[in-house]
Amino acid sequence: ARRLVTIPVVFHVVHRTGPEDVSAEQLRSQLDVLNRDFRATNPDIAQVPAPWQGLVADAKIEFRLARRDPAGKKTDGVVRVQTERRSFGPGDDVKRASRGGSAAWPADAYLNIWVCTLGNGLLGYAQFPGGPKATDGVVVLNTAVGTEGTAAAPFDGGRTLTHEIGHWLNLRHIWGDTLDCSGGDRVPDTPNCEGPNTGKPTFPVITCSNGPHGGMFMNYMDYVDDAAMFMFTAGQVTRMNACLAGPRASFAP
Ligand code: ARG
Ligand code: ZN
Ligand code: CA
Repeated sequence: ARRLVTIPVVFHVVHRTGPEDVSAEQLRSQLDVLNRDFRATNPDIAQVPAPWQGLVADAKIEFRLARRDPAGKKTDGVVRVQTERRSFGPGDDVKRASRGGSAAWPADAYLNIWVCTLGNGLLGYAQFPGGPKATDGVVVLNTAVGTEGTAAAPFDGGRTLTHEIGHWLNLRHIWGDTLDCSGGDRVPDTPNCEGPNTGKPTFPVITCSNGPHGGMFMNYMDYVDDAAMFMFTAGQVTRMNACLAGPRASFAP
């Protein structure tokens, strides 16, 4: 097993109104969630159903606010940008200063996290490894970041970023983004399942002949409420490790 990897994080808080300018404390509460979820030290991990407790895995990744900006100057790891935009969409305008957003810091040295208002019920989105550097990172809705302040139920557990950073580290949705049991997430230890789950499902949820235990809806890479997701598997950690040994090797020297 490799050593702990520490990922420097920069939050770009792109705001028009006061409440959109989320506090440092709210961002800190988000980092605390990430630092539990990616080490499998989250308290709710005890809720993993018995047949899958042996699959729970520590990703050995920690997140810390950047201490130096790209020019080498001291920073608190938070860039605050005032915008005239009422909301952003999945088209990456929030990553462009010329579109009312904030430009990425070098993506081989920082995990860029944009925090803003998003339209159409979008909680967040991520760029998979291998994409353009100028847009690399993840975006999160400002009411789905952290566990305090403007964080709003049922997405006030900080799990949107756990999910999006999973994508940033090359994890797919556990149902494989098809709705007919044909696609998979390319992870052997997550059961095949039909489609996304929402809310707080009751175990087991059986689809695609995956009985008796059914689908792993409590995995971070499903769409359930924050309080209903609490695990990565060993197979997912293998995939994240491959990403940190490959396209994101700059974070794991
Ligand atoms: N990309 C997903 C969306 O925007 C994020 C799902 C996050 N789920 C959660 N429980 N926080 O719909
Ligand atoms: Zn997703
Ligand atoms: Ca699988």
